Amino acid sequence: MLRYLTKRKILAALFILVICLSVVYGCFSGQKAFSSAPQLLTDPFLQLPTQSSVRVLWFTEFAGSKHNVAYGDNLQQTAVANTTKLSRTREDQESKVGNQKENGQVYKQPVSRDIWRHEAQVVGLTGLKRVSYRVTSVREDGKSISSNTFTLAPTPTPGTPLKILLTSDHQLKPMIAANLQKVVETVGKVDAVWLAGDTVNIADRASEWFDDNGGGAFFPCLQGRAKFERDVNGKKTSFLGGEIIQHAPMFTSIGNHEVMGRFGKGGSLGDEFNDAFPRPVAMKLYGEKSLKDNSYNTDTYEEIFTLPESKEGGESYYAVSFGDVRLVVLYATNMWRTPNMDAEARGKYRERDKDLQNPENWGYGQVIFEPIAKGSKQYNWLEKELNSPEFKQAKYKVVMFHHPPHSLGDNIVPAYTNPVQIIERDANRNVKTVRYKYPKKSDYLIRDVIPLLEAAKVQMVFYGHSHIWNRFLSQSGMHFLETSNVGNTYGAFLSGDKRSVPSGDKKDYAALGDPNGLEPVLPTIAPLPGKDGKPIPYIASNDMTAFSNFDTGMATVSSYRFDTSQPDSKVVKFDEFQLR
Ligand SMILES: [Fe+2]
Ligand SMILES: [Fe+2]
Repeated sequence: MLRYLTKRKILAALFILVICLSVVYGCFSGQKAFSSAPQLLTDPFLQLPTQSSVRVLWFTEFAGSKHNVAYGDNLQQTAVANTTKLSRTREDQESKVGNQKENGQVYKQPVSRDIWRHEAQVVGLTGLKRVSYRVTSVREDGKSISSNTFTLAPTPTPGTPLKILLTSDHQLKPMIAANLQKVVETVGKVDAVWLAGDTVNIADRASEWFDDNGGGAFFPCLQGRAKFERDVNGKKTSFLGGEIIQHAPMFTSIGNHEVMGRFGKGGSLGDEFNDAFPRPVAMKLYGEKSLKDNSYNTDTYEEIFTLPESKEGGESYYAVSFGDVRLVVLYATNMWRTPNMDAEARGKYRERDKDLQNPENWGYGQVIFEPIAKGSKQYNWLEKELNSPEFKQAKYKVVMFHHPPHSLGDNIVPAYTNPVQIIERDANRNVKTVRYKYPKKSDYLIRDVIPLLEAAKVQMVFYGHSHIWNRFLSQSGMHFLETSNVGNTYGAFLSGDKRSVPSGDKKDYAALGDPNGLEPVLPTIAPLPGKDGKPIPYIASNDMTAFSNFDTGMATVSSYRFDTSQPDSKVVKFDEFQLR
């Protein structure tokens, strides 16, 4: 009996010891208790194809223990992912995510959100046929989750006919999901996506990329997993976006919405977004240390994507060959500020009255983020690129950036030039007013960049920013396409409604038309009628969404429109032009 009790006591002691060790191990190993099955935060998507490889990327909300891509016949080959954590993604009082349906319900200020990014390079590809792939993430508790199976390919060889989607300015706008759904229904599988900037509204707000409650976040729309409802005459229609970037690599340029301002200084992420501060002023006020945090950054954008790089500009400007195309991507975007001239406006043309004595609070007008004027690092790089054999020998030469060089839209005014600051002081040297001017003759795109592109025989310049569809043709035959009436519009100013511009200096601030002197081209197939019934050369609509497809086999760029207020209506091809 005694021996029996002793044995029971020993067993009990051992049991308690095992429990204690488990608890201690659990605490020190950082293992969390997970209440639900693991999920991927996005489907996988493709980036940076080369002649024999492509990158597969995806995101989770757990660090996990193993992440890999299974690919090839019967998915028997494996590529192991490299995992990193996004450093600046946060949610705040204006996020619409999880239980926060209204401002401030959950978050009272910006709060870090833990998101891990997984990237694997799939190698040994020949390009003869597309290869199946699937990603799997294993959580710390050993439970795993796999994506559906998609297909990947290396970069296409010259001569391969390609369909390339031209898009921009998604920003969770109301028509995005419908637009991308119609792309897939109309064009089918595209071979690449070119996005001319403005992916989301506020780059550091995680939910805008992944899971905004409105159902129109960036990745869900481009992956066919959106759920954006439109209420038309009391009838609800759901648009899902398109399953696009799981199969097609995406190349992007930086728009103003990829740039975040001074870090941690505002009360909300919106305040931070609006608080881009010129680097030379930041140097003076704060010194070189933490210059990025005291000015502006594109960290989240650069952490999310893996793009081609240039030695001079990294991912911010680059060139890439893709099939028959040489695509040159520039960093041409500036801080957007209000045209409002009120005392309260920290705007394009003035500082607000209450800030006048405090330059730390000034907005400094429409700050250009990366120099592009003649002689700048970016300009010199562009000049070199346009003289490279890769560029010269390409059948198609296309340049993509965010800011419009020709447009009927709002954002083309004022000129793309550094704001000229004019400070007026009273007798006591106190600041009375701070104003900004933008001389049109100093527009860096028109004065410096476009002549370079014309001389290099670029066939098409593709851009966004004004949320409008319109196109132009220069005398030398270079095409200009702005296909950014994707999710909504900011209006067209050809006749009637005028841009909000300063009353003087008419020569610098055009209220109507293309300030840079080209006539818009009337769509060749089915232009929309204006109020007077006559055809108009643009689409600026919150019902009508537009997209364009560059078909390299046919040498055409075709544009399509879809009326989201008539969910059962057909997509209409309304314009097509040929690249010489
Ligand atoms: Fe935009
Ligand atoms: Fe923009």
